[in-house]
Amino acid sequence: MENTLRKYFIAGNWKMNKSTTDAEDLIKSIVSEIGKQIDVTVAVCPPFTSLDTVSRIVENTNVLLGAQNMYPEINGAFTGEISPDMLRSLFCTYVILGHSERRAYFNETDEFINLKVRSALENNIKPILCVGETIEERDAGNTMNIVERHVVKGLAGVSNDFAENLVIAYEPVWAIGTGKTATPEMAQEVHHQIRRLLSNQFGEAIAAKIRILYGGSMKPANASELLDQPDIDGGLIGGAALESISFNKLVEIAIQKSA
Ligand code: PGA
Repeated sequence: MENTLRKYFIAGNWKMNKSTTDAEDLIKSIVSEIGKQIDVTVAVCPPFTSLDTVSRIVENTNVLLGAQNMYPEINGAFTGEISPDMLRSLFCTYVILGHSERRAYFNETDEFINLKVRSALENNIKPILCVGETIEERDAGNTMNIVERHVVKGLAGVSNDFAENLVIAYEPVWAIGTGKTATPEMAQEVHHQIRRLLSNQFGEAIAAKIRILYGGSMKPANASELLDQPDIDGGLIGGAALESISFNKLVEIAIQKSA
């Protein structure tokens, strides 16, 4: 169902994949097929090492660039980290923050993720804040509590002035890279709850404009029914974003639904 307040958004999370040469090949095939369309917001999030290369190729197209992480400070003695200024100098529009892999493998807390979300917004980069439960948390009936904690703590202190630049991605951890997808009804239930939380913080009018993406084994075969849900505004795509055929197809499905 097309929602006139929210354009569909398809974002590719390439994770720790693609050498610079492979990244160049992939982005060229994406740009040549869907680089001109304007019905759907499209972004790719390559590893830091390929941001510059990809940035030059997407220049003057409608494909936007995102990073997969960011440190909240502007500069300084933070060996190995990348700042919002550095991302902006490469024309990054988005940054993925709080991905479950960073929460699980790099011990990122809600408080640290919140610092990054606020820093991104203050520095003109739009955060894609990832939230979602593990299978143990779902089985214990804690899905809504976990998602509420991720959303409320992740967005603490964000003012209404910045809220429209937010993107939320609901990514059930058990669906990421596993081939298991949440049913459209399961996903919609959580997306609806997320929009209610956004409405509590920012008011209904702003909450109605914030895009909430679904992530977790989304692919051309299951995208259509997920995108049909009223509160699912697009996808954060991992595996299916590594091949231009499947990524472009996902964008085409979203374009058709926008018509
Ligand atoms: P997946 O990854 O599509 O491979 O499940 C999604 C993500 O982790 O963002």
